[in-house]
Amino acid sequence: MRAAALVLPALVAASPVAQVVGNDGWADAPDPKQIQIVEASFSGSGCPQGTVSTSISPDKTVITFGFDAFQTEIGPGTKMTDRTKNCQLHLNLKYPGGFQFAVVESTYHGYAQLETGVTGNFYSTYYFSQDAQATTTTQTSITGGGIWAEGQVYTKADKIPTASYIYSPCGASGILNINNRIALTSTNSSASGFITDDDATVAFTQQLNIAWRSCKK
Ligand SMILES: *[C@@H]1O[C@H](CO)[C@@H](O)[C@H](O)[C@H]1NC(C)=O
Repeated sequence: MRAAALVLPALVAASPVAQVVGNDGWADAPDPKQIQIVEASFSGSGCPQGTVSTSISPDKTVITFGFDAFQTEIGPGTKMTDRTKNCQLHLNLKYPGGFQFAVVESTYHGYAQLETGVTGNFYSTYYFSQDAQATTTTQTSITGGGIWAEGQVYTKADKIPTASYIYSPCGASGILNINNRIALTSTNSSASGFITDDDATVAFTQQLNIAWRSCKK
């Protein structure tokens, strides 16, 4: 986080027209409520049709996906293909023209039971379809053994550092993709592990730090 704070002034200096603005202190920064989820879909090995519930808040600013089959396992009697699963979320968004915003927070919950020698990794890669080269990836790792050998729920709370922000396209709509992947590795072929992602929430209004910038003229 410290490194991100140091990089910010350089970014602003390099593109004087684009202002990095926060919610507070900027009267002309749009209300996050104006980012609306128009449509949502999903695809991947971790979310076959019929295993996902989707709920969008009445004001269309918060979406939660519930997953019944987003789970991986490793160890005796398991298959190689069960070690990693992915589920890509696609959010069709509309928002005020003339501004771009960066997604900075989202939350995931799941369950992990990992014996010593097994490591669970959960990656989330964020990008907009209109600029698929600009991606940012967060990673949470859980090292097996100790409390994890018994099994525990976990929370992955993503906070993307400033230097890694990806911005929505200029215009008034964009498709935000979030490719979530859970994967297990092991240094002990006798050890077992199991990890799930049970839900994913992307909440535009509940983000305290949503970042806006004006589009370059
Ligand atoms: C490998 O895992 C098994 C099952 O948890 C355990 O009994 C064994 O001690 C482990 N071996 C090593 C070398 O850690």
